[in-house]
Amino acid sequence: MDSGRGVVKMIDQRQLPHRLTVVECDNYREVASAIREMTVRGAPAIGAAAGFGLALAARESTATTRPQLERDLAQAAEVLRATRPTAVNLGWALDRIMAKARAVEGTLEQVRAAVTTEAVRIADEDVEMNHAMARHGAALIQDGDTVLTHCNAGALATVDVGTALGVIIEAHRQGKRIHVFVDETRPRLQGARLTAWELMQAGVPMTLIADNAAGHFMRKGKVQCVIVGADRVTANGDVANKVGTYKLAVVAKENGVPFYSAVPSSTIDIKLPNGDAIPIEERDAREVTHIDGVPIAPEGVHVSNPAFDVTPNKYVTALITEHGVVRPPFDENLARIMGAGPS
Ligand code: MRU
Repeated sequence: MDSGRGVVKMIDQRQLPHRLTVVECDNYREVASAIREMTVRGAPAIGAAAGFGLALAARESTATTRPQLERDLAQAAEVLRATRPTAVNLGWALDRIMAKARAVEGTLEQVRAAVTTEAVRIADEDVEMNHAMARHGAALIQDGDTVLTHCNAGALATVDVGTALGVIIEAHRQGKRIHVFVDETRPRLQGARLTAWELMQAGVPMTLIADNAAGHFMRKGKVQCVIVGADRVTANGDVANKVGTYKLAVVAKENGVPFYSAVPSSTIDIKLPNGDAIPIEERDAREVTHIDGVPIAPEGVHVSNPAFDVTPNKYVTALITEHGVVRPPFDENLARIMGAGPS
């Protein structure tokens, strides 16, 4: 956020890898549109963006009384919250900032300042958590391993560094000779467009594969572990992530390949007992029927387009968190780290 000018700047992820452009949002409604339209995407990134959206709402509000200001902020928070339902980071960031704003004892200017300060703190903490996850997770990757990943859980999906990709890039940085299979990740191709771009910039040897090829390579013994991010992990260790993750996890278990998900505590929804209660976002049919605006299916075809799926905890070997690598029993071990966590 450029607090001097009162704008939120973000990379337009829809333009990558062809163009690296930055868009500016002048108000919280523009931030909400950017999240909905996936200009910015990835669970921690949309949480941070929503936080900065609320900071813009605090500046925008012309309230002259405390109840008025709190009403304006609550209204903005609901508009931001309604953009995407699956990643818990969004609601987590908004709730955290609203609680901070309500707790301020001071002038309206102090409330406004507290909203911005908390949004900045959330963004800064995300980077710290990602560095910690990278260190813990890199120890799971051995010299010579091939890692398979799905969607994009890199710097673009976070404030910086990334979750799953942070782990992979750290292993490479430590001098381990690794190779990465990147699922293209239909329908929006986050793997082909974003993860391939990030890994190539980091100089990590990689091969882009069609989603449907992952099982083939696992059966051939070409994959030593799967590492993905997550949009929400529940108290029992169920993992909601980009659609297709569940299928990968099942095939990984069938082939004795460890399946890891890298998750900051901002992605752990300890109040939800299991993944059945996670809302799964349904997105526009055009994401399936068109590629770059070109139709690939008969006009009028019936489409279903869930953006995420839930991987039951029995397929999850371990969760990589900023507190360390968490193994089953997840209910006990997640409760322990969440009790100890910063949030
Ligand atoms: O629909 P997207 O692109 O926002 O989905 C993103 C994912 O599923 C990521 O794997 C997840 O948010 C983790 S990002 C660190």
